[in-house]
Amino acid sequence: MSSVVSQQRVLSGMRPTGRLHLGHYHGVIRNWIDLQHEFDCYLFVADWHALTTHYADPKEMEDNVWEMVIDWLACGLNPGSATLFLQSRVPEHAELHLLLSMITPLGWLERVPSYKDQQKKLKEKDLATYGFLGYPLLQSADILIYKAGMVPVGADQVAHVEMTREVARRFNFMYGREPGFEEAVEAAIARMGKKAAKLYRNLRNAYQEQGDDEALETAKALVQEQQNVTLGDKERLLGSLEGSGKVILPEPQALLTKAPKMPGLDGQKMSKSYGNTIQLREAPEDVEKKIRTMPTDPARVRRNDPGDPEKCPVWQFHQVYSSQETCAWVQEGCKTAAIGCLDCKKPIIEAVQEEVITIRERAVQYEKNPDLVRSIVLEGCEKAREVAQQTLDDVRAAMGLNYR
Ligand code: TRP
Ligand code: SF4
Repeated sequence: MSSVVSQQRVLSGMRPTGRLHLGHYHGVIRNWIDLQHEFDCYLFVADWHALTTHYADPKEMEDNVWEMVIDWLACGLNPGSATLFLQSRVPEHAELHLLLSMITPLGWLERVPSYKDQQKKLKEKDLATYGFLGYPLLQSADILIYKAGMVPVGADQVAHVEMTREVARRFNFMYGREPGFEEAVEAAIARMGKKAAKLYRNLRNAYQEQGDDEALETAKALVQEQQNVTLGDKERLLGSLEGSGKVILPEPQALLTKAPKMPGLDGQKMSKSYGNTIQLREAPEDVEKKIRTMPTDPARVRRNDPGDPEKCPVWQFHQVYSSQETCAWVQEGCKTAAIGCLDCKKPIIEAVQEEVITIRERAVQYEKNPDLVRSIVLEGCEKAREVAQQTLDDVRAAMGLNYR
């Protein structure tokens, strides 16, 4: 697949942490579900990434993987629209990781903020390992092997996508210079027609001589819309703009996922390690119990003490689940003590239960039929491998490894 076409491809991964909770759903999965209808999505379970920090407890991996896939499917990720697969079953990721490691300066990895941050945060684990240092580069391989144009991630992962762009640039610069590149570019320019050719040269100059980024963007769009130019030539034209060779590994863009408005039950970020989650397959009684016992504005000690929704995690749930009318009712009722906190929580209990019940119902068919889940993932892995093998062929050839 050409890198010009693959700009419409979305790739993302999630480490298998077992059953998912509402934070995953509202923060990540809903976004994936929207994207699957619009783009060619490759979504995978990053089990190798989980091993970089959890190498000492492999027992839970298998369950965690399948429970997560069941949650994905139950939420509405559709294997007919998105390719769902397992990282460790597409070994091409590992070979690309190895090959990219040859050209990746150590400093790039040491400088990624998550490297030191996570070591500090997970002090009980020894993360002074080769594998953990390589975490972001493995992620680069995940992305580049599909020549993905877009990578939906949270803010904590943007630095990894940035590094991926640098690795791709370095790779293209080192290996994208096929013999006769300049001549091939000239021939491709000629095929654009007089007017477009002149525009292309002017824009290329404006970018290369004056650093005009807007000219670069215009030139890229101009190349993309050419009708008489082959995909290979488009890649050369794009490469020539930025002074690199042919683009073998296109640079991906991060699609920043908005931070979820919904916190955990205690107002902190919803996270398994804080014990403040509602699971996607939580039993309705437990949903009710968890929300009823949620802390509220500490100023509302007695029923007739007025409160401030801004100081209450329940209000943040309302912002996710409730209509404007209900939100107005909460604001007014809380500040005047016209409603009690249990009244206020009732619509939330109902909304979360409805959401969770739908997901639970859809999960049942997969829980009852593990073979179905395995075959969905197997099919995804096969499809992913086909793409991955093509990229790896290009990469091996570029690095002089395609001997027969
Ligand atoms: N590191 C990501 C996370 O912790 C998971 C991940 C692995 C990923 N490979 C990826 C995300 C490739 C996007 C693209 O969330
Ligand atoms: Fe929170 Fe609602 Fe109670 Fe106000 S009334 S403190 S918003 S739960």
